[in-house]
Amino acid sequence: MRHFLTLRDYTKSEILEILELAAKIKTETKNRVYKDYLPRYTLGMIFEKSSTRTRVSFETGIYQLGGIGLFLSSNDIQLGRGEPMSDTARVISRMVDMVMIRTFEQSKIEEFAKYSKVPVINGLTNEYHPVQLMADYLTIQEAGLDKNLVVAYVGDGNNMTHSWLMLASKLGFELRVATPKGYEVDAQILKDAQEFSKESGAKIIITNDPKEAVKGATVITTDTWVSMGQENEKEKRIKDFDGYIVDEAMMKLGAPNAIFLHCLPAYRGYEVSEGVIESPQSLIFEEAENRLHAQKGVMVWLDRQNKK
Ligand code: CP
Ligand code: NVA
Repeated sequence: MRHFLTLRDYTKSEILEILELAAKIKTETKNRVYKDYLPRYTLGMIFEKSSTRTRVSFETGIYQLGGIGLFLSSNDIQLGRGEPMSDTARVISRMVDMVMIRTFEQSKIEEFAKYSKVPVINGLTNEYHPVQLMADYLTIQEAGLDKNLVVAYVGDGNNMTHSWLMLASKLGFELRVATPKGYEVDAQILKDAQEFSKESGAKIIITNDPKEAVKGATVITTDTWVSMGQENEKEKRIKDFDGYIVDEAMMKLGAPNAIFLHCLPAYRGYEVSEGVIESPQSLIFEEAENRLHAQKGVMVWLDRQNKK
C-alpha cells in the first residue's frame, strides 16, 4: 500500500508523474470538465491543528473527483479524548477510501498508516508538509522556472524547510537554506537529503546569512517564524529572527525574474513585508490555488497505484 507521508518515499519520476497528472486535471477543471476519477469515494480528513487551505482544497478536491470529504476535527472525534491512533485508524479505514491527516509528530501519522487499510496522506506534521511542496513545484513549473532552478528559503528550519530539502534532493535542484543560529533544520533530515542529492545532483547550501542565500535565486520563499504549537515561544522567536524578513531589499538580491512563494498564512511585517506579498513577483495565491490541483493529482495517483 502506497501512502503519501513524506517525499522521502517518492522517486523523482513519481513526483513528476503526479505533477503531470495534477496539471492535466487542472486544465480539465479550468474548462469545467469534471471526471469521476474517484466515484463515490470518501476521504476522511482528520485535523488536530487549524487549517484554511488544506481543509478547503481537500474537501473541494475530493468532491470534484466524484467523492465526498468528511471533516473530522480532533475536538469532535474520540481521538481528542484519548482513543489511540491505532484504533482510530482501524475503525475509520474500514469505512472510508482514503484518509488525510494533519497532526503533530510524524510518528503519529506513521502509526495511523501502519494500521490503515486505505492510503493515508500527510496534510502537515511538525516534520513535513509534502502536499504543500507539490503545489509549490506546480507553481514553479507554471512560471517556467523549473529549469536551472535555484530556491532560497529564508527563515525557520521547520516542516516546510524539511519538505524543501526532500523535494530538492529528489528532483536535483539547488536549494539554499538560511536560518538564524539555533533554528537550523533537523540534522538527520539534512543528512538524508545530502544522501539523496548524490544521486539527483542537487546542490544544498546551509547558511545563517539570508543575503548569501537569496543572491541570484529564482525562487525566494519563507514561512511563519511561529508554527502551530509554538505559540508560547512567539516573543523569543520574533527577537531571534531579526534580520530575516523577506522585504523588497532582499527580493532585489534575487534574480531579476525571481518569484516569491509562501505556503500561507503569512504574517506581514515579520517573515515577509507587505510590499513583497502584494508585489507582482508574489505568486502566493496561484500557489494556494494549486493546493487544490496538486492534491487531486496525489489522490488519483495513489488510487491508481494501489490498484496495480
Ligand atoms: N499552507 C497551509 O497548509 O495552510 P492551512 O494551514 O490554512 O491549511
Ligand atoms: N510551518 C507552519 C506551516 C503552516 C501551513 C506550521 O506548521 O504551522
